[in-house]
Amino acid sequence: MMTRRNILKSLGLTALALPSLPLQASEEWSALAPLPDKDDPEYWTKLRKEFMLSNDKVFFNTGTVGVMPRRVVEAVTKHLNYMAKDVADWPYKDDSKERFISGYQDLMFIRTKVGRMINCDPKGIALTDNVTNAMSYIANGVDLKAGDEVITSNQEHPGGRCSWEVREKRDGVVLKQIEIPKPIESADQVLDIVTKSFTSKTKVLMLSHMISGSGAIIPAKEICAAAKAKGIFTVLDGAQTVGNMRVDIRDIGCDAYVGCFHKWIGAPAGTGFMYVDPTKIKDVWTTVASAQWDNHEDDGYRFTQRGTGNFSILFGLDAALDFYFEVGHERWTDRVKFLGDRLRTGLAKNKKVKFFHPADPAMCAGISVYTIEGLTGTQIQDGYWAKGKMRPRSMGDVYGVRHSTHIFNSEAEIDRAIAIVNELASGR
Ligand SMILES: Cc1ncc(COP(=O)(O)O)c(C=O)c1O
Repeated sequence: MMTRRNILKSLGLTALALPSLPLQASEEWSALAPLPDKDDPEYWTKLRKEFMLSNDKVFFNTGTVGVMPRRVVEAVTKHLNYMAKDVADWPYKDDSKERFISGYQDLMFIRTKVGRMINCDPKGIALTDNVTNAMSYIANGVDLKAGDEVITSNQEHPGGRCSWEVREKRDGVVLKQIEIPKPIESADQVLDIVTKSFTSKTKVLMLSHMISGSGAIIPAKEICAAAKAKGIFTVLDGAQTVGNMRVDIRDIGCDAYVGCFHKWIGAPAGTGFMYVDPTKIKDVWTTVASAQWDNHEDDGYRFTQRGTGNFSILFGLDAALDFYFEVGHERWTDRVKFLGDRLRTGLAKNKKVKFFHPADPAMCAGISVYTIEGLTGTQIQDGYWAKGKMRPRSMGDVYGVRHSTHIFNSEAEIDRAIAIVNELASGR
């Protein structure tokens, strides 16, 4: 691990000579107030104070962009300040451990934490700017020829889908879109639709692990096992999963997984990742090439190296990951789901509310999608704002709103949201 002492050593300096050198975020934290005691009955109320969100507004749109805890903002700004003031301290050396600009280092100190979070070998992980980049690296990098089939669904986000459309237009790959219903009725229904679409020409299957337009968690493990049995390369789009639900790559058994930290993990915007099974990543071509482009000792490094980047946001990412682990992997995701379940259960009592997330609670976590009979998404969104300064996201005329719940939300906020929906449904 890179410590302050290592950094100083790599620069040939003593601690006294460089007092303002940025520390790795986790070391810096020791100077911050400790998080509330895990057994404290006021735990979540106290943890809310770790977020700078204004108390007079309620944020329910993590599915679009997340909220950074204060310590993440501090880690970013501290490094930005350091760069602005003291970059001259840097006696440039071609040392991949230096923390001035990112885009050249292996960033293993962060990749290791990501590997721990999603249970996979960090050598298969690359840090990217977002999900769109990550998916593009995979879609551009896999060998496919004209006539090979890539299966995806009608419910994919363009950031997951469009890089495959490029392969379709450029190489004559056949992109097949299966129809997944909204709402999904059951896990078996999805498994059946997906597996029936396989043919002898199917080479790749790309699906969202959690569908962004409905919050549905698909039966990824069963789908990947069925695809694997047919030699199909499986890619999951996890833009909405990490920090929203537990993700265990070894258990799922997918070949590749892409995701981001700027939604549910509360890291700065511009932080994402790709994972490819280390036994298969060697066969994925590099898209953005620099000195490591052919490094097969650490293929994750090959994709992580993408030219000059912003180290400040990676310090923020590091702080966000440490915050996640400090709250606790399970405690965090259980809380997100608890609040989501509370919302769904409360809304289900109103017959004028129509759901687009699955009825099975096991297929839902922090995203609920619903409408109110006779209202559009924009009307519901505006009603929320007018009545409670609450901010879910409109999903247009048919699908109402997408309502994300996160650890900075409270039970009282959920209960107030349910009350607002009841008022809107009764025309008040
Ligand atoms: C399922 C899904 N895939 C991909 C994306 C694109 O993510 P990014 O903006 O990080 O590239 C999103 C964004 O909302 C998403 O929900």
